[in-house]
Amino acid sequence: MSASYEIHGPVAVITLNNPPVNGLGHATRSAVAEGLEKAQADDSVRAIVITGAGKAFSGGADIKEFGSPKALAEPNLLSLIRLVELCSKPVVAAVHSVCMGGGLELALGCHYRVAAPGANVALPEVKIGLIPGAGGTQRLPRVLGLETALNMIVSGEPVKSELLASLPGQKLFDKLIDGDLLAGAIAFATEVADKRPLPLVRHLKVTHPNPDAYVQFARNTVKAMSKHFPAPAKCVDAVEAAMTKKFDDGMVFEREIFTALMFTPECKALRHAFFAERAASKIPDVPEDTPLREVKKIAIIGAGTMGGGIAMNFLTAGIPVVMLEMKPEALERGVATIRKNYEAQVKKGKLKPEKFEANMALLGTTLDYAAIGDADMVIEAVFEDMEVKKAVFEKLDAVMKPGAILATNTSTLDVNRIAAFTKRPQDVIGTHFFSPANVMKLLEVVRGEQTAKDVLATVMALGKKIRKTCVVAGVCDGFIGNRMIEQYSRQAGFLLEEGCTPQQVDRAVEKFGFAMGPFRMGDLAGNDVGWYIRKRRYVEKPELRYSKTADLLCEMGRFGQKTGAGWYDYQAGKRDAIPSAVVEQMIEDHRQTMGITPRQVSDEEIVQRLVFALVNEGARLLEEGIALRASDIDMVYLTGYGFPLHRGGPMCYADTVGLYNVVQAMKRFARNPNDDAAFWQPAPLLARLAAEGKSFS
Ligand code: NAI
Repeated sequence: MSASYEIHGPVAVITLNNPPVNGLGHATRSAVAEGLEKAQADDSVRAIVITGAGKAFSGGADIKEFGSPKALAEPNLLSLIRLVELCSKPVVAAVHSVCMGGGLELALGCHYRVAAPGANVALPEVKIGLIPGAGGTQRLPRVLGLETALNMIVSGEPVKSELLASLPGQKLFDKLIDGDLLAGAIAFATEVADKRPLPLVRHLKVTHPNPDAYVQFARNTVKAMSKHFPAPAKCVDAVEAAMTKKFDDGMVFEREIFTALMFTPECKALRHAFFAERAASKIPDVPEDTPLREVKKIAIIGAGTMGGGIAMNFLTAGIPVVMLEMKPEALERGVATIRKNYEAQVKKGKLKPEKFEANMALLGTTLDYAAIGDADMVIEAVFEDMEVKKAVFEKLDAVMKPGAILATNTSTLDVNRIAAFTKRPQDVIGTHFFSPANVMKLLEVVRGEQTAKDVLATVMALGKKIRKTCVVAGVCDGFIGNRMIEQYSRQAGFLLEEGCTPQQVDRAVEKFGFAMGPFRMGDLAGNDVGWYIRKRRYVEKPELRYSKTADLLCEMGRFGQKTGAGWYDYQAGKRDAIPSAVVEQMIEDHRQTMGITPRQVSDEEIVQRLVFALVNEGARLLEEGIALRASDIDMVYLTGYGFPLHRGGPMCYADTVGLYNVVQAMKRFARNPNDDAAFWQPAPLLARLAAEGKSFS
């Protein structure tokens, strides 16, 4: 059943019923159209109410139909809204909980709208690179005025119904109904049943005291804020048309923009990210109804950089945390940092003082393992050293209650070996948070060989609860993100050897859209981190060639911002990266010892070498089953590494370029004597897909 039809006295009630959010799929649209017909044919019906069952009025388009012919099959949403407008009896939308996208557009087609307080009202299409396509840009300004409507359409953010209903002069809601919404809506419909003519939003006018200046201001602001995305600026164009064009011409204009945006790479990338986020939570061999373990109390071992940040996630979500350290000073430092971070949020108005106090009240500390034995999950974030991890996990095995989840935040160590330090490897899992852990969205959930399915499912659900984007990774050195970034860093080093400066590489990558180029990133994260890892990694794998420039940098003590010097120079107290003559000389000297004559490398080559290095390693991860799907890799890069959202992630970008072209570029790079031919050997999966003319998706 996709919409039900019931008679309540003189009122027919059509209830959208397409869980979870009453998406307006074809079956639902058809059922509404049938309901309208039935109600008009029934002489005893004098008015109609449209509402939604369950947790929403309607969340808009049915994402299951996205891109399929069904989305456009008649009655499409535009036709359905026209049916509503032309209905001979008044149609009242009874809005509650969620009223978004096509759902709001449908409501705007109704003659009247009533709402329960607390409903989230939005036109979020811009978030997937589109503008509203069923009259939203033409009708919303007519009921809310130019400014409010434009803000909502450009941001895509939800606004509460009671707030909208309180705006002076608003015509979005005819009535706000406290208590029983349906009863209130039926009473309202009965009241207006005989009123004629039936009011239509299309007949209203958009007025503004200074429309041209306002639209110009909006256009400038939007351009500056969304330089990589075409949709927000197009929202301004469409909303302007609501003022300057006749209603039907405005509708045609909106449709033209909508259709053109649909085919842009930015829209494709955003839709990809939207679906990738949903796909990432699905694990093929772990059923969605896997019973979860209860997690009501968390213990964290180590109150350093990561331990403190990890703790904040749970405190914010209202889950009690106990932190364990070796020394009281370390605990004090850890708690002070958490307090300071929360205080900064309070100062910025992002956290209410009461919530801050409540969060802090959930935090406990201890030096004694006996005090954490009753926690449902423990997350280890001690030094990155196998011997230290061994000592901690043996201890945890001894004290934790049966069934407790034992997680490690290791970034490079073997989770299977860590699990083997315990007699319960099935309860051990990796939770790889990113720094700063209270801010970064990404959580790599590392599935050990023996990790139990319910442990995996529980951690995925918990990750969602603390508002992380969780991506499952298998065990390997670096998991998904860091294993790929290693190849990216190696290429960045080769580029220096060939003739680039750090600033040239950073500039090219930032122009491509990365938040930060590899060298500025290194200076921020600390170049010593990679140095430490390289010392281990390249001793284990001497066959791998890498540029020694980064080691030479560290030997000079240039660890980055924290030491006031890295790939760039820094002035005290400032973060501006200033090109460094010393570093350029070091690179030049290194080139001479290598016997390399520097050459000019184009920005395009820089970007391709760095991004295709990611893509090739990504293909290997897929082949080895470390990553479950290409879109998971994209999620890791979008949420953890600042990969430009408008490119959709490395694998999506490779698909856009075409895998054949990617492989051809790699062959060109392999012929460069100053690059590394072995590096550019295409991963078998990539080579095969390219040869078959296929894509990762
Ligand atoms: P950190 O050095 O800031 O903190 C480690 C804390 O653990 C220190 O406060 C130390 O006193 C405590 N500790 C050490 N041994 C202990 C023991 N036996 N019992 C109790 N406490 C002990 O290190 P950080 O950066 O927080 O890293 C922790 C873990 O997180 C490491 O495995 C690291 O690889 C991983 N990680 C670090 C990231 C980063 O960007 N810093 C990112 C992702 C993972």
